[in-house]
Amino acid sequence: MRLIINSGGARATDDWRSNFQACAPELEVVGWHEDVDPASVDYALVWEPDPGRLATFPNLKLIISAGAGVDHILADPQWPRHVPIARMITARTQTEMAEFVLTSALMLTREIKRAVDNQARRHWEFFDSARIAAELRVGIMGLGHLGAASAQLLARVGFQVSGWSRGNSRLEGLPTYAGQAQFGEFLAATDILVCLLPATDSTRGILNAATLSQLPRGACLINAGRGSHMVEQDVVAALDGGQLSQAVLDVFEEEPLPPESALWSHPGILVTPHCAAIPDRRERARHTAFLIAAYERGEALPNLYDTQRGY
Ligand code: GLV
Repeated sequence: MRLIINSGGARATDDWRSNFQACAPELEVVGWHEDVDPASVDYALVWEPDPGRLATFPNLKLIISAGAGVDHILADPQWPRHVPIARMITARTQTEMAEFVLTSALMLTREIKRAVDNQARRHWEFFDSARIAAELRVGIMGLGHLGAASAQLLARVGFQVSGWSRGNSRLEGLPTYAGQAQFGEFLAATDILVCLLPATDSTRGILNAATLSQLPRGACLINAGRGSHMVEQDVVAALDGGQLSQAVLDVFEEEPLPPESALWSHPGILVTPHCAAIPDRRERARHTAFLIAAYERGEALPNLYDTQRGY
């Protein structure tokens, strides 16, 4: 069985080979840039595949996204519609995301960025940030595996957590809101808004002026979904006008975030480099091997892309 990989560039191919050797020695791993007979490719593990390339493999059985999102595959107008796409969601990525959201929420709670900025200027400024988690309401948008894991961890630490999704997803033991009809009510009860939505046509630009204006004044934002969820100038305007007090942004419309972006130097924004939940190659190889083995046995695969839902 042959697996072609587009993730990490040509330099990563040897590392991929040794990771797969350890967990699935029967798989023959081929780098995206290596010469290969297209008809011999059974599986593809990809991140941002070059448009048109997946369609050249006539016997492709399964596409495995190297990340939780599939938007980077759907961006290829020719992606082969008859081939299922599996999303990379593992127990570890759920924990990574949950811990990233928790870290961000605690940093926002205690205004840690303000101290970090002051330290860079050797400036001692006492400010009262002695809020505790139990005093803050965290609202999580997107209640898939990553949203649910984040909600439960934050609740365990003491935050008042609720969730919102476009459909009717529930969170065990926590309040949830659904759809456009309950969006305003959800936002009004949220001090820290967390975006973990999938990138679809209906979630594009959802973090806009109208949405942000329904939060309590001075609320915080954590975006670990996609850059396309944010209307960037609306987020900046909300921060400048005090509607938002702080934001942690891990994802951007253009990545890497260009050096000239105003977001880098905004005092209210902590920029992180799309690092919230990125499994390492060992983890991705293990999960890919698991998916391929399950496919070969004819079993149902978890977290397949669903055309109806759009993610
Ligand atoms: C990364 O953002 C992913 O889709 O996992």
